Amino acid sequence: MTKDNFYLTTPIYYANSTPHIGHAYSTIAADILARYHRVTGNGKAHFLTGTDEHGQKIADAAQQAGKAPKEFCDEIVERWKMEWKSLDISYDQFLRTTDQYHEQAVQQIFFRLREQGDIVPGTYEGWYCRNDETFWPESKLVDGHCPNPECGRPVEWVSEDAWFFTLSKYRDRLIEHFNAHPDWVRPASAWNEMASLLRGGLEDLCVSRVGVTWGIPIPSEDKTIYVWFDAICNYITAAGYPENMDRFHRLWPADVQLIGKEILRFHTILWPAILMALKLPLPKLVVANGWITMEGQKMSKSLGNVIRPAELLETFPLDAVRYVLFAQAPFGADFSFSEETMLRRYNAELANDLGNLVQRVLAMLARYRDGVVTARSSGDELNAEFDETARAVRDALDAVDYRAALQAIWERVGGLNLYVEQAKPWQLNKDANNALLDETLYNLCEGLRWIAALVYPFMPHTGAAIWNALGQAGVPGDRWEDTLHWGQLDPGTKTTLPPSLFPRVEHQPSAV
Ligand code: MSP
Repeated sequence: MTKDNFYLTTPIYYANSTPHIGHAYSTIAADILARYHRVTGNGKAHFLTGTDEHGQKIADAAQQAGKAPKEFCDEIVERWKMEWKSLDISYDQFLRTTDQYHEQAVQQIFFRLREQGDIVPGTYEGWYCRNDETFWPESKLVDGHCPNPECGRPVEWVSEDAWFFTLSKYRDRLIEHFNAHPDWVRPASAWNEMASLLRGGLEDLCVSRVGVTWGIPIPSEDKTIYVWFDAICNYITAAGYPENMDRFHRLWPADVQLIGKEILRFHTILWPAILMALKLPLPKLVVANGWITMEGQKMSKSLGNVIRPAELLETFPLDAVRYVLFAQAPFGADFSFSEETMLRRYNAELANDLGNLVQRVLAMLARYRDGVVTARSSGDELNAEFDETARAVRDALDAVDYRAALQAIWERVGGLNLYVEQAKPWQLNKDANNALLDETLYNLCEGLRWIAALVYPFMPHTGAAIWNALGQAGVPGDRWEDTLHWGQLDPGTKTTLPPSLFPRVEHQPSAV
């Protein structure tokens, strides 16, 4: 009954559309962390993702498609799952908010909070944006329209009997939590923004809807549960709350909750308040990713400026997309992404730096030593450099800093390329300087073995291709503690030449 898993979550995505690279970005981010924790932790990571399927927005989309909401979602969800498969997302659990266990658990949470006086009756009157499923204070409206720049639709005046979650009651405890944990929301700018929102005061939140029929019903009433209340609870219902408390205690609290910065308010104010009301521990860390932008605007379906992952995969290998998305900007910052960026970084850092290195080293080993790993070498300073890099990668990924991890690995890639140039194995071969040639080839192969393990969380295919080419079995670097020690590549191991990992892309990709 004690926690024995690294539990990490993505937002659950609205089932009214299919993924673009913005959604892919946050899901790949979680995948990298999950893979990292599987090879460095106790092997146990629980990676949750899923779909947010209730609410007016989804009902409207279904109606437009001429389908019943559930039937509509069933079809869309298959598309999300296929997309995640094509991006090699290793989720452990996919929750749909229409899953029966989730619906029942949310009803139980709602009842419990109502019984204990955390959900109370009242009347709701206010401006409501149907598209964003959000109530907006009059002061925030822009000419009577939704203030969300991605939406801007007219808002409606809504007046109804309603249930309220007593969010305001938790303000002091939330402030205390923020003050005691200046690191629990990252980046720091997100922590600051939410802390100042809290200081400005909190209103109770309406958590029922009269007019919205596509939602979790409140039994014996004509109301449904507000979709954000329903959705936000997914992180604990997925873990088994409240029916399977054994499983729940093995998972909760979440170690990392990854979200987009536009939903910080729900995840760092509403969500912890609900958890406090349920007397449950809060997530250890909430990290907000920035937006992928195009010409300065957030990439989003409503703005119609999206790139689909499949479009990129027509031109580039999957791992290249995974690499460039995370090499491009520090996590948390907005960044623009374009075909030019992808092409430039692909050819420079992947085709040239890593791809060529692997081909060159293994081709030389094939030519000079029949592809058989030479006598073990101590590696000298290479050994120390790789130790240092592994530490840097771990520190970076523990801090959810993807770019820093990639930079540290690429320093070693650059280092090995330089080593080839300086050691000149072709010259050593020509001079029949066999001892030095063996040593050089060993160091290069062993360096590649480390690189395979270190890139694996980001680039599982590439890691596996290098690992297998080096005659190693299983997942690259499985249990870093055991495998990342210099000299584990056994002399005599038969290597093979992998197919080119990153063939140069010369043309401007037309698909994107
Ligand atoms: N359903 C809610 C979340 C509920 S969580 C309890 C939702 N869904 S969404 O489909 O709009 O997906 C939102 C998430 O997708 C964002 O929080 C973010 O992680 C990701 N992204 C969507 N567009 C993005 C970009 N342009 N750039 C980066 N991430 C983006 O909100």
